Amino acid sequence: MQQVKAVVARGKGQPVEVTTINVPDPGPGEAVVQVQACGVCHTDLHYREGGINDDFPFLLGHEAAGVVEAVGPDVTSVAPGDFVVLNWRAVCGNCRACDRGEPWYCFATHNATQKMTLAEGPDAGTELSAALGIGAFAEKTLVAAGQCTKVDPSARAAAVGLLGCGVMAGIGAAINTGAVTRGKSVAVIGCGGVGVAAIAGSALAGASTIIAVDIDPKKLEQAMKMGATHTVDSSKVDPVEAIQELTGGFGADVVIEAVGRPETWKQAFYARDLAGTVVLVGVPTPDMKLPDIPLIDVFGRGGSLKSSWYGDCLPSRDFPMLVDLYQQGRLDLDAFVTEEIGIGDVEAAFEKMHHGDVLRSVVIL
Ligand SMILES: NC(=O)c1ccc[n+]([C@@H]2O[C@H](COP(=O)([O-])OP(=O)(O)OC[C@H]3O[C@@H](n4cnc5c(N)ncnc54)[C@H](O)[C@@H]3O)[C@@H](O)[C@H]2O)c1
Ligand SMILES: [Zn+2]
Ligand SMILES: [Zn+2]
Repeated sequence: MQQVKAVVARGKGQPVEVTTINVPDPGPGEAVVQVQACGVCHTDLHYREGGINDDFPFLLGHEAAGVVEAVGPDVTSVAPGDFVVLNWRAVCGNCRACDRGEPWYCFATHNATQKMTLAEGPDAGTELSAALGIGAFAEKTLVAAGQCTKVDPSARAAAVGLLGCGVMAGIGAAINTGAVTRGKSVAVIGCGGVGVAAIAGSALAGASTIIAVDIDPKKLEQAMKMGATHTVDSSKVDPVEAIQELTGGFGADVVIEAVGRPETWKQAFYARDLAGTVVLVGVPTPDMKLPDIPLIDVFGRGGSLKSSWYGDCLPSRDFPMLVDLYQQGRLDLDAFVTEEIGIGDVEAAFEKMHHGDVLRSVVIL
């Protein structure tokens, strides 16, 4: 057991605080990772707002890269000294999805068995709930060994750590779920970190038309830098008509919804070509309902309506590949890092996220 500094959300809506936590030594199937960098994701804010569940206190942070410090007795997949990106899809290998050869849908992913605990204050000893089973706004964290994906150790931790969640979700929504390939037309509705990553992924896959849609002109400007070929300000024009005009009157082959709202999903539905694909990567809240769409339109337009969890990624396949493309200068992960911040700056980063000022703030540990 060792004690380290970490960012904890103690209660619903309360500002997060830096405190000391206990990190157990790794047991069977576990690893302790010395965290080097961890991005601030919208989901961390969701946790602290009580929007995920009520299992406070939460140890936040889940988009991280670092170095393995120690592993449990039976662990062979990683060793101390390995540079890794942490993932929240450590596949089990024997659930019904894994059994049928689709491990990216694994229904029984692994996390550490032991719990990290609070080390200070009246509630010392209380078990922490690690965000997405990671908890990486901490100098060190305990995870399942399968959550550690080895990548090129010369890569910049602040950039490649982002593959651990939002950037992978966006890139994967395009290339894995949407099956974007060269020559396709793509529209992305919502150009935050996830949407812009979907744009970068579409560009990487060779899409010929990439239309960025947002209500914030700052976001559209950024989207152009990441590979968009056209932009649509949907606060000013009807995005469905605009996307049709930009695609010969037909609509895009793939439309990616990266906001998570019924009205933007409806736009995506009607902005795609016949037999096209809609990918929902934005996360709706439980109260939201499907938009009012005649069922004959669902039937008549054909194609597929999909959702994308974590970009349908397989970390062991996708992380090393994307890090290599980054190292070769073909995927600009640095562009997602708006600022590097300290462990005490997470609350301020939430505020900036709220105002749409950043793609990603990254805590350097
Ligand atoms: N599926 C997954 O595995 C996964 C993983 C990470 C995040 N997400 C989800 O993806 C979504 C986006 O995350 P993010 O980090 O990019 O958030 P963000 O807040 O950075 O970006 C959202 C963007 O949507 C734009 N927007 C808001 N309302 C709009 C509207 N009506 N029309 C067009 N654009 C609009 C905003 O201006 C902003 O640019 C969230 O719902 C998040 O929870 C999903
Ligand atoms: Zn499985
Ligand atoms: Zn995330």
